[in-house]
Amino acid sequence: MIILACDHNGFDLKEQIKAFFNSENITTIDVGTYSKERVDYPDFAKAGCERVLENKLNIGIFICGTGIGMSMVANRNPEIRAALCSSKTDAIYARKHNDANVLIISGRNTSIRKAIKMIKLFLTTDFEKGRHLKRLKMF
Ligand code: RB5
Repeated sequence: MIILACDHNGFDLKEQIKAFFNSENITTIDVGTYSKERVDYPDFAKAGCERVLENKLNIGIFICGTGIGMSMVANRNPEIRAALCSSKTDAIYARKHNDANVLIISGRNTSIRKAIKMIKLFLTTDFEKGRHLKRLKMF
């Protein structure tokens, strides 16, 4: 399942991303926020992580202004590997080398076009394991 989370600065992009998944008939779980009213991003990062951790196959897509706050909060959880991505290459390597289970996007700096490209790559790239698995075990 795909879990969406955002703060007020990520709201517009989150809504566009949700509409994209809807158009592809892919169900998402949206833990909020649900408007542009100012909120605290840690609440939504925590709520998103809780849902991601319900199933190993779950993937999170979290958005705040820069993506930095969401990343910091999400990565406090040992089972979450959240990657702030700003390019297609980031999205590919976040999966290939880091087995990221949460894609973090900046709502301020990312167009919907670019977000969708990154999301598609993130969702279709497999973890390479091998030496990268050894490194994950060193966290
Ligand atoms: C909220 O003002 C802003 O700090 C948030 O959207 C994000 O950029 C945090 O890292």
